[in-house]
Amino acid sequence: MVQLSYTKKSGKMVAMVSVVFIGMGAMLFDTIAYGAASAPNSKVVAATASSAAAVTVPTQSVASGQKTTDTNATGIPQPVSTTCMACHGMTGISPSGSMFPDLAGQWAPYLVKQLNNFRSHTRADPMATAIMWGMAASLTPAQVQQVANYFSTQTPPKAKMVNAKLAAEGKKIYEGGISNLHVPACMACHGPTGLGDPPYFPRLAGQRRAYVELQLHYFKKGLRTNDPHAIMRYVASRLTAPQITELATYVRSLPGGANE
Ligand code: HEC
Ligand code: HEC
Repeated sequence: MVQLSYTKKSGKMVAMVSVVFIGMGAMLFDTIAYGAASAPNSKVVAATASSAAAVTVPTQSVASGQKTTDTNATGIPQPVSTTCMACHGMTGISPSGSMFPDLAGQWAPYLVKQLNNFRSHTRADPMATAIMWGMAASLTPAQVQQVANYFSTQTPPKAKMVNAKLAAEGKKIYEGGISNLHVPACMACHGPTGLGDPPYFPRLAGQRRAYVELQLHYFKKGLRTNDPHAIMRYVASRLTAPQITELATYVRSLPGGANE
């Protein structure tokens, strides 16, 4: 369920997006506030509570097109330093985690595909529709390539072991699949250490748990449909909600290593 509402906060319009998933007794809840701030370079205005993130983003600045240079003095692409950083961090490590994926170390062709899928509305899950469609629409094709190259060369996220018991269960499915349900091993495509395999197979190692869970639920429910040959919809439709949690926990614990 996705709720969109608008509130006025210190004179700015802020769009509130609430996404609530209920499955097998588990509830995943997240609230994101974003909107056009009055100051072009306003920073994140409020940090996270454990399950809620409030972020103010200068959405108009990325679309302004007034800048003549595409990178600032430090070589960071202009859209990253003005916009993307609010949710994905300046180096692609999301400051609030949660449902904002880490982009650091992700393969450039995969990032380009996703940004183009947001632009063409091919990736149309609720968070994509609510947030990333607008973000990606404001990029030029050259900027898409530029930000993808930039994030792909940043240091990947550090592995984190959140729960060893859940991760051990996730590891079994990741490496062995579920044979009686014809679920292939994740590592067949995403690699034994979660490094992925460009251009098609994304890196999963170290990725945020909540984000990985969310995507697997999106695939399972047929809300994210941009996977080639519906492969992830096939895989995820055979996973239970607890198995999705186990897999996300395992993936978060994979160090993966840097891309070379
Ligand atoms: C207000 C927060 C916010 C901002 C600002 C933002 N993003 Fe995102 N981004 C998200 C969320 C949330 C998702 C997950 C979308 C989904 O679940 O489909 C996402 C997903 C993505 C993905 C897909 C990652 C994957 O692993 O599939 C890419 C690529 C991306 N964003 C790039 C960008 C770029 C480039 C910018 C700046 C132009 C940007 N984002 C700005 C919130 C944001
Ligand atoms: C046959 C190949 C294949 C197998 C097996 C497979 N995947 Fe995938 N997976 C893909 C492809 C291809 C994509 C990229 C889809 C796209 O282009 O948007 C993907 C995307 C994903 C994503 C989204 C990543 C992101 O950044 O948004 C997650 C999470 C994921 N897979 C997890 C898994 C897990 C967990 C398993 C095992 C249960 C698994 N996959 C098995 C091919 C596979």
